[in-house]
Amino acid sequence: MSTDAPDLSGFTGTVTFLGAGNMGGAVLGRLLAAGLPPEHARVTDLADRTRARWEEQGVSTGTDNPEAVRGASVVVLAVKPYLVADVLDEIADELGGDSIVVSLAAGVTLATLESHAGDGVPVVRVMPNTPALVGEGMFVVTAGRDCTAEQLEVVDTLLRACGQTEVVPESQQNAASGLSGSGPAYIFYVADALAEGGVHEGLPRDLAVRLAAQTILGAARMLVESDEPASTLREQVTSPGGSTAVALRLLDEGAVRYRMSAAVSAATRRAGELGA
Ligand SMILES: NC(=O)c1ccc[n+]([C@@H]2O[C@H](COP(=O)([O-])OP(=O)(O)OC[C@H]3O[C@@H](n4cnc5c(N)ncnc54)[C@H](OP(=O)(O)O)[C@@H]3O)[C@@H](O)[C@H]2O)c1
Repeated sequence: MSTDAPDLSGFTGTVTFLGAGNMGGAVLGRLLAAGLPPEHARVTDLADRTRARWEEQGVSTGTDNPEAVRGASVVVLAVKPYLVADVLDEIADELGGDSIVVSLAAGVTLATLESHAGDGVPVVRVMPNTPALVGEGMFVVTAGRDCTAEQLEVVDTLLRACGQTEVVPESQQNAASGLSGSGPAYIFYVADALAEGGVHEGLPRDLAVRLAAQTILGAARMLVESDEPASTLREQVTSPGGSTAVALRLLDEGAVRYRMSAAVSAATRRAGELGA
């Protein structure tokens, strides 16, 4: 799929968010930043503070889900996973026109989404991650059986305002959840450990935190912009007999590489259990 950030100022449809907390709010914030006219967005949320936040930005808000989805071109489900089926049951009578349902709910399958949305309603299952907040999200997307290529393109265009998109078969959604869905937490864990190491060696804590963050950002950008795999980039910064080689040897002795990949497997299994 395309990686260019879209300009949404000409978007003519309406995007309704059912739930605009952490994840829904991150996505909506980026859509508005990409030019989506606020009058083309609607929010329902039970939290007064959340509704007030979006009202201030010119988005109409409320608590009536069926009313909010009426005539919407895209309906983003961003409530907790255990609420998704109930919310779909509540709005099903208002769907069935041209509304595309986009679920951000971890683990909720297309079969569940489609059975509660109703016959013929186009549904897209998405696994997002929190860097969407800064426009660097990873959205792993699977289209349901009634979603056309054009409808998927509409969803892709919106999501690219918040980061990158990848389309996968649904059988890969749990693994994507284990990698990119949970992944920011692994990287924060690494950042924390790196900073702690710097502090241990005498760096002021705020400096150590900045060094760790910029190092991760720079390495990530090299990975994204380079054609080389991570293993080659790692070799290029590892002089024989040097300090980096000693450090990597220590990580290998602690099986850190194995543990990282096993962590992805554990999170993948757990995502499957939670989805079931
Ligand atoms: N946060 C993440 O890192 C992340 C990552 C991947 C996927 N997701 C998915 O994103 C979805 C939302 O998660 P979140 O972390 O953003 O949760 P959240 O911050 O709790 O946001 C959900 C919002 O929905 C509101 N809500 C509850 N019932 C509602 C209803 N019937 N109609 C409309 N709004 C309702 C909640 O209000 P109250 O708080 O007042 O109940 C809350 O403000 C989940 O399905 C999750 O699996 C999140």
